Amino acid sequence: MSQPDVLAWRDGQITALDQTALPRRIRTLRITTVDQLVQAITTLAVRGAPVLGAAGALGVALAVRQGRAEGWDDARLAKEVSRIADARPTAVNLRREVSVVAARIPEGAAAVEAAALAVLDLAAEASRRISKRGAAYLAQACGGGRLRIHTHCNTGSLACLGWGTALGVIRAVHEAGALSHVIVDETRPLLQGARLTCWELGQLGIEHRLACDGAGPFLISRGLADAVVVGADRVAANGDVANKVGTYGLALAASRAGIPFLVAVPESTIDEAAPDGRSIPLEQRPDEEVTVPAAPPGTKALNFAFDITPAELVSAVVTEERLIPGGRGGSFS
Ligand code: MRU
Repeated sequence: MSQPDVLAWRDGQITALDQTALPRRIRTLRITTVDQLVQAITTLAVRGAPVLGAAGALGVALAVRQGRAEGWDDARLAKEVSRIADARPTAVNLRREVSVVAARIPEGAAAVEAAALAVLDLAAEASRRISKRGAAYLAQACGGGRLRIHTHCNTGSLACLGWGTALGVIRAVHEAGALSHVIVDETRPLLQGARLTCWELGQLGIEHRLACDGAGPFLISRGLADAVVVGADRVAANGDVANKVGTYGLALAASRAGIPFLVAVPESTIDEAAPDGRSIPLEQRPDEEVTVPAAPPGTKALNFAFDITPAELVSAVVTEERLIPGGRGGSFS
């Protein structure tokens, strides 16, 4: 069965696969206003760092069209564009691609749309190159044998377009005949691993096992994984990594077990303006995502969507351009 596009620009509208409905339903959203886009991003119907960047880019094109139809002045347009950039704070791709495309606004709607579509093309192409480079790194770092790879959250085509980042690396290892199976964390509280990564791996015919988040570090300590591969929402200039909450524990366990901890990202996820992890804004989401349905009414939560893995726990960061040794393998620069 052919799948609808994860994200596309059709007749001046954004279409997006609703990632809150998967895997039970394949539903495409038609997004025609900035309000609808901001809603789709904040509810995680559209999510994953590179897709957030691409959605932000298309969002600028959408805002320009809506502004023309509704007679917005420049100040209103700038305000609406900022709302898109601010919809989620941690993934630097969103803010970055919005500002790249917004810089073309003075050239007119056609230039803005072309710039936005170029972001989508580049994202898909980047993920193909990341996948190959990451697989080559693992072949060298792990030696022979078929690999058991532990991953967290969702980093496949749903999050990235193309093959994905961490999941793209896993796919390239699989295509090389060097994969045993994938261990997928469920990824609390919104279950991107259980719902989305297991769905994508199933579609690809890649063997996988689903694990509770809390089990991940223990499974690694028992020698059940040969490597951990994750994506990121932002990598600071010193190599600290912001990724879905739960990543830090896996990195600690991987370091202790002496297995590679690989971070796969496009260059656009590296933020030279953030000196270290402490300068990366970490999104905190509504209590109800954690408390409902199990906790007593009125329970308060600490719902950080992301955590910071210090560079010293990272073996390497792989991008479409380069392999950067992390703190465990050299120095990040
Ligand atoms: O909250 P999400 O689902 O947008 O979080 C996504 C992640 O944490 C991914 O690991 C990250 O964006 C990298 S996607 C290639």
